[in-house]
This record gives sequence, structure tokens and C-alpha cells, in this order.
Amino acid sequence: MQFTIQSADSQSKARTGLITTDHGLIETPIFMPVGTAGTVKAVHQRELVSDVKAEIILGNTYHLYLRPGLDVLEKAGGLHRFNGWERPILTDSGGYQVYSLSNTRKIKEEGVTFKSHIDGSKHVFTPEGVMDIQRIIGADIIMAFDECTPYPCEYGYARASMEMTHRWLTRCIDRFDATEGKYGYQQTLFPIVQGSTYKDLRQQSAEFVARQERDGNAIGGLAVGEPAEEMYGMIDHVNAILPSDKPRYLMGVGTPENILEAIALGIDMFDCVMPTRNARHGLLFTSQGIINIKNEKWKEDFSPIDEELGGYVGLCYSKAYLRHLIRSEEILGAQIASLQNLTFYLWLVKEARRQINAGNFSSWKRIMTKKLMQRL
Ligand code: GUN
Repeated sequence: MQFTIQSADSQSKARTGLITTDHGLIETPIFMPVGTAGTVKAVHQRELVSDVKAEIILGNTYHLYLRPGLDVLEKAGGLHRFNGWERPILTDSGGYQVYSLSNTRKIKEEGVTFKSHIDGSKHVFTPEGVMDIQRIIGADIIMAFDECTPYPCEYGYARASMEMTHRWLTRCIDRFDATEGKYGYQQTLFPIVQGSTYKDLRQQSAEFVARQERDGNAIGGLAVGEPAEEMYGMIDHVNAILPSDKPRYLMGVGTPENILEAIALGIDMFDCVMPTRNARHGLLFTSQGIINIKNEKWKEDFSPIDEELGGYVGLCYSKAYLRHLIRSEEILGAQIASLQNLTFYLWLVKEARRQINAGNFSSWKRIMTKKLMQRL
């Protein structure tokens, strides 16, 4: 994997860049649609390319390991071959899902023992095992096994957890570097900075991660309930330490506003379930603001969903029709809303890139943030 910076904003830490993988190019800043179980929920791979213009999607080790399982994925020739997505894929390590989804879990130095949320069966994730699993899934970018601390988190716990995440990172790197990709293309491993909301811990963690000199670095443990200002403070502090010539990935973030703020702080990659999950509940992100399509207000509004954004779903369907579909729990409702929200998120980062390249990012961001967070 290679990363080249294209241009840097003079008034903020925003930059544009290009990531090169064996499955193609990714222009940064980029948003990665979440495809937990090997599918971006309710969206065809073809639509992800033609409408959303996604350049990379995310998968989850935890889900894919439990179902369809490693035998199937290996026989398929990896996730790209299995799901027909030919562009880059990033997999999260399970370091988040194991805590948020599994029924019971025991965290020890060796790894995490957990029970499947599907059938209650017992499993163990170790740093080494999670590297082996991600070799089999075959994503282009794979993540280190970490512990994502909750918020609030007591200082002593946050420190001990961060130190264990660092020891786990060393084990991840040892295993990753001792193995090879199974399918003839390169994979790369991103470490994850932890440290909760403590500045000194974030500093130690960023320094430890930076010393590993990997192709890219991630920031975890944020957007877990802390105030946005606190999150921005942590990002700023960590980004001053992480190498600027490597992509920086902020995990699990966030709202359009969060994304623009984090771009201004020097983040290059994002993922979040927000556009797809909210879509299924009728919450739409549009270039004019946020719409709860279930509201009475849209009952007889036959205007297009998002005229300015354009594209197939923005233009072809009316708000009244989408309201009807979502209220009737029709499958097409989830499809249209998911396409709209993802198309919007990818438009947002593309527009951010354009504004950074043109030297207008900061003033554009101020106007956009106000507009985008408006509830219509
Ligand atoms: N997704 C959102 N936050 C995190 C995190 O801290 N760790 C991992 N592995 N995934 C995440």
C-alpha cells in the first residue's frame, strides 16, 4: 500500500491524498460504507460503484468469522471473490464488536473469550488468531486487535487497557509480518491508538503506534458517548504525533459535522453505520439538511428526495413515496434511503477534497456544517 499527499489546506490540517492498493485507488479524505457481514445492508455492489461511488468498503472480522465462517471464505478465495466487490476492502478486527455484540466476554492477557450473538457458541479471539482470520478474509487493509474502552472510563482501567492493547499490537505485528496474504495481493496492517479521553494516555498510545512505522494508523475508542469537543481535542492531540505522511483513520465516526471537523484536524479515512442504519429508520441525510421522512410534513411532498445531490435516487423518487415505503416497512424503502444516505456521505467527502484542493476548505466547511445539520 502507498500513500501520497496531494495538497494541504493552509488554514487547517486538512489534506487530500491518494492511497494505492492492489485492488485500486482510494482518494482521501474518504468515507467507507460499512458492510458488516460482507454486504452493505440493502445496497447492491453495482449500486455502490455506479450511484454511491464508494471506493472502499468495510467488513467485520467478528461477523464474517461467525458466519459464513472461515472455511467458506477460504474456499471462495477470500471476501472479494465471495461478494463480488472488486475494489479495496478494510476489515475491522473484532476489537469493537466483541465488546458491543457478544453475550458474555472475558478479557485476559491472552485474548478475549466470548459467546456468539447468533447461537451462544463459545469462541476465543487472540491477537494472533485475529491476524490469521483477517488473512483468510483477505481484506486489503486489516486492523490490529484492540480493546475499545467505554465512556466514561476510569483512568486506571483506561491505562491498563491501553497497555494491553499495545502488547496485543506487538503480537499482531509479529504474526502479521511472519505470514503472507493467501490470494496473491498485498495486505497491510493498521495499528489503533487507544487511551480513552486522557490526554497523557492518548499521547503515549500515539507515540507507541507511530514507532511501529506501519503503512497507516487508526484512532479508536472515540465517538463512544463523550462530548464532541472532547473527541476533537483527542484527535488533534493524537494527529500531532502520528506521522503526517501516512493515512489516519478515525474509527466509527460519525455525523457529517464530525467528519468535516475531523478532516480539518487531519483525518483521512472514516467509517460509520450512521448513514445505513439511520436510513432504515427513515432518517435521511441530504444536501439541504436532515429529514425524518416518517413525519406527516412529507405526506404529500412530491418533490425529489435531493435535487441538488442529483443521482438516481435523489432525483427519481419523491419524499412522499419514500415516506410511504418506510412507513409500510417495504424493502425498497430501506434500499432507496440507504442509497441516498451513502451517496450523500460520499458526495460530502468528495466535495471536501475538491474544496481542500481549491484552497477553500475552511470557509466551505463553516457554511456546510450549518446547512447539513439543519433538521428540515
Ligand atoms: N470501531 C469504532 N471504534 C473502534 C475501536 O476503538 N476499535 C476497533 N477495533 N474498532 C472500532
